[in-house]
Amino acid sequence: MRVALAGLGVVGQSFLELINLNRSELLSRYGLGIRIVVAADRSGAVYKPSGIRPEELLEAKRKTGLRQLPGGTYMDNVVDALGEAEADVLVDATPTNIVDGEPSYSLIRQAVLNRMDVVTVSKGALALYMPALKESASHRGVHLRFSGTVGGGMPVLAFARECSRADRVEAIEGILNGTTNYILTRMEEDGFDFHQALKEAQRLGYAEADPTLDVKGLDTACKITILANEVLGMRATVHDVKVEGVEGVSVKEVNSARSAGKVVRLVAVAGGGKLEVGPRTLDARDPLAVKLAMNAVRFKTTFSGSHVISGKGAGGVETATAIIRDLVSIKMLRTEAGERA
Ligand code: HSE
Repeated sequence: MRVALAGLGVVGQSFLELINLNRSELLSRYGLGIRIVVAADRSGAVYKPSGIRPEELLEAKRKTGLRQLPGGTYMDNVVDALGEAEADVLVDATPTNIVDGEPSYSLIRQAVLNRMDVVTVSKGALALYMPALKESASHRGVHLRFSGTVGGGMPVLAFARECSRADRVEAIEGILNGTTNYILTRMEEDGFDFHQALKEAQRLGYAEADPTLDVKGLDTACKITILANEVLGMRATVHDVKVEGVEGVSVKEVNSARSAGKVVRLVAVAGGGKLEVGPRTLDARDPLAVKLAMNAVRFKTTFSGSHVISGKGAGGVETATAIIRDLVSIKMLRTEAGERA
């Protein structure tokens, strides 16, 4: 499978490391061989049809820059490189931008025009234009996968699909942001102040390139938008979400919740006429009251009750597993359809 990789930050680099670690298993279990033919970061793109080895790409990224990659053709414009490259799949690991969804939006559109499948872990374009992007992918007969946009490595969208198979999901409640959950937990358990805890979350690779997206609740708003569209069939954008972040949560508030057997968490809700994100007090025994960078999501169904999934919701390698999961699922679909992959 020829891959164009856009975005070489924490997640993009973890994806390259994971390809190396899982190479033989992916081949033997799924017949999936991943060849990177285009790699791009904010400086530009490099194109090498014979394939760029993950380790040479990591080396170029960390030391010399993409321009120096041996045997590669360098292009300033990533979207042009995508237009020229003969790749099967775009892996979009560019930073989330909720102002206009770029560069993710143009990359996804170009890939779909080229009839390439798309795996994205970037949330902005989907949170702004999800119905249109899904329609154009389906119109062109390509797969658009975004399992890593919600829940990091935890397969929350696949779990939701299972919950809906013989039932109806009516509402969703969740802890969808690892950074703010980490901050609130460290404030509660270790007496950290807000900024100290945020710094630590950044050091651990949980926070967005622009961490205000995390603390203002906007990253969570993107994720609940994606869930609302995908699971509840809403045609919402991130602008429809009523959002409040965690900057206003004080150590005093966290401590008084704690002495009452409760915790403060940034909770997202969709369904029952609501689409909102804000700090809420939960019983400490509620399965949503997860700690540190964990995420948890509850799906309320019509017939089978509530189902909760929890797991690591942020982190480079965790999110990179979601990319590989999506590539495997595309490979399996193509194999079923008898296509060359
Ligand atoms: N910044 C995000 C978080 C990364 O903290 O959850 C995963 O989407």
